[in-house]
Amino acid sequence: MYYIYCNDLERKGFKVVAIPEDDEGLDTELLKAKLTTLGDESAAIRFFYVVTVNNPTCTILSNNRKAELVDIVTRLSSEVGRKIPLFFDNAYHDLVHDSTVEPLASALCYDDLGIVYEIGTLSKILAPGLRIGYLIGSKGPFLNSIIQRTSDIGFSAPLINQEIASYLLDNGIEAQIEKVNNGYQQKAKQVKTWIAELLGDNIQECRGGSAGFYFYLTLANTATGATSDFFKFLTRTTGQEAVDGPLDSQHPKVIYIPGEHCVHPNGDMVEVGKRQLRISYGFEELPQIHTALKLMKSAIGYSQENL
Ligand SMILES: Cc1ncc(COP(=O)(O)O)c(C=O)c1O
Repeated sequence: MYYIYCNDLERKGFKVVAIPEDDEGLDTELLKAKLTTLGDESAAIRFFYVVTVNNPTCTILSNNRKAELVDIVTRLSSEVGRKIPLFFDNAYHDLVHDSTVEPLASALCYDDLGIVYEIGTLSKILAPGLRIGYLIGSKGPFLNSIIQRTSDIGFSAPLINQEIASYLLDNGIEAQIEKVNNGYQQKAKQVKTWIAELLGDNIQECRGGSAGFYFYLTLANTATGATSDFFKFLTRTTGQEAVDGPLDSQHPKVIYIPGEHCVHPNGDMVEVGKRQLRISYGFEELPQIHTALKLMKSAIGYSQENL
């Protein structure tokens, strides 16, 4: 799950029901099973939120799945007699850098009832600091209320940022996206090779590499959480000077997101989440990433010695 958003929703009082994915994105069979289990309670569902290129896994939602999701929520809307909004988070939609992936269709193409909304952002293709995002959907009470609220609180991005973004979108955004994707494509290929070379035996599953800039790894038998030896080794918090280095000049650290933050605490993936992690190849250059993967290999060795 996109942990930042789920956490925000829960602070606002929503109950989140998380559905696992497979290699085509959110698993619609598991979704249907969950709706059956919910029974009459599914009438209380406020909305569906689906990431088209997932964070943390970078798994791409296939067009078939997209169509199926629209179908499921259209049916549920007629059952409960209310249009249930279905949001597609397109944050990484323009960052598919693997040319073998089918072109991604807009979910709006499958929507007869007017329940689909697509959310975009300039954060991933231009700059997060611009704070500019957008929503595309059918006219109606929901869109009106969003427009009203945006007007009430004032648009979050300063006008100067809107002007800058508007200029950049009109002048050269295609070249920028191509450049960004070429860079990510190269990095993804190289990092994937290193993952196989260095961590190969210990990788149970590796997702990502075709879009966005994360790999999501499931280790075969090594815990990754904040109290694990793997984590302590990489953050230099084992308490052993030989591993951490002297206090005033510690050995290099590796920052990753432990799987325990990427699976919902009440969901079905809590156990496997303890052996998962997200690494990003977005910011760091390749030599640094290579060093980090070598350190991860050593961290796995350290965890196993300590078993
Ligand atoms: C899945 C997903 N959605 C949305 C965003 C939001 O980006 P922003 O709030 O910067 O527009 C991010 C950023 O990390 C993301 O990973």
